Amino acid sequence: MASIRIRLDGVSKRFDHTVKGEVYAVRDVSLAVEHGELLTLLGPSGCGKSTTLRMIAGFEEPDAGTISIDGKDVTHALPNKRGIGFMFQNYALFPHLSVFENVAYGLRVQGRDETDLAKAVGEVLELVGLASYGRQQPHQLSGGEQQRVALARAVVFQPKVLLFDEPLSNLDAKLRVEMREQIRSLQKRIGITTVYVTHDQEEAMAISDRIAVMEGGVVVQDGTAFDLYYRPKTEFVARFVGRTNLLAGRVVSADEVEVEGLRIALATGRAAGDALRLVVRPEMIEIAPAPSGESARARIVQRTFLGEKTDYQVMLGSTTLQVSATDHYRRPPMEAGQPVAVRFHPEGIHVLG
Ligand SMILES: Nc1ncnc2c1ncn2[C@@H]1O[C@H](COP(=O)(O)OP(=O)(O)OP(=O)(O)O)[C@@H](O)[C@H]1O
Ligand SMILES: [Mg+2]
Repeated sequence: MASIRIRLDGVSKRFDHTVKGEVYAVRDVSLAVEHGELLTLLGPSGCGKSTTLRMIAGFEEPDAGTISIDGKDVTHALPNKRGIGFMFQNYALFPHLSVFENVAYGLRVQGRDETDLAKAVGEVLELVGLASYGRQQPHQLSGGEQQRVALARAVVFQPKVLLFDEPLSNLDAKLRVEMREQIRSLQKRIGITTVYVTHDQEEAMAISDRIAVMEGGVVVQDGTAFDLYYRPKTEFVARFVGRTNLLAGRVVSADEVEVEGLRIALATGRAAGDALRLVVRPEMIEIAPAPSGESARARIVQRTFLGEKTDYQVMLGSTTLQVSATDHYRRPPMEAGQPVAVRFHPEGIHVLG
């Protein structure tokens, strides 16, 4: 298909491990990234994200499978023949060179003429909001500004593809949020196809068009953040993307399921009596003070007030529920120990296959 920029087909990579022998870092990964799309590889430490990215870049060679860019097989091509820009976690700037020279460095190595070079560097510094910083030295910049210089350095070549490996991990939390918004807006503005690696699910959800979740060298699901949140295919994805309740339920009838004795209006297409697992996000459960006189089956175990929302842990029968409420501006928060009535909102509830 013409709109595909990067394609991985059955890509695998094994490494020698001193204890375990040969291990697969990446196993049979197939992915397609469209023109202008930002795809994130998301997963826990050691799941094969960096290895996948390094194979796209050409720093590692796959043991099996093919990688193509714009329909051209680059599986064994040298990194500098792939038209790719990178930004890695340790993006160290040259400390003795000015901002301008840091960004210009690669173009100089290429032997680009001076006017052309000055124009290209000026344009990208403008793009990252550092137009007047050319003569500053790296030590005169804040962490976020240094990061933007590294970003400018990655895009100054006008690469076809941009690769990021945990580029924000050494910034503080506030700056991380600011920088991910900058990367996203720059990526959209110049429409550059991007593969981004992170283990931070919130960062992945904020920045991506599409997310590929990896576990043990395998892509277990790829889709939009919305898909992954509301329709996770596995327990791993459900737990890794967002907070979740994974509840054991039983089909009561064609349009009813029961969890801990509570009926939920949910059509599952399963036979009555079938056991199933439900993915219920914390905001799909509502709690209210239990009506007095009734013996409540649920009780608040813990309450964490976070301002825009309150997280509760609620014990329902023998199940602990994660519940979040956002409406305490109009009703007082409930207390730990308080008996409550629990109601499930069936609309968002997902049945695991
Ligand atoms: N050069 C290497 N030699 C041997 N094993 C390696 C090598 N590079 C990676 N591995 C192994 O391959 C697996 C995947 O590593 P990779 O760096 O791709 O993980 P990752 O998802 O990027 O993790 P992190 O989030 O910690 O950066 C790990 O088990 C790792 O130990
Ligand atoms: Mg890594």
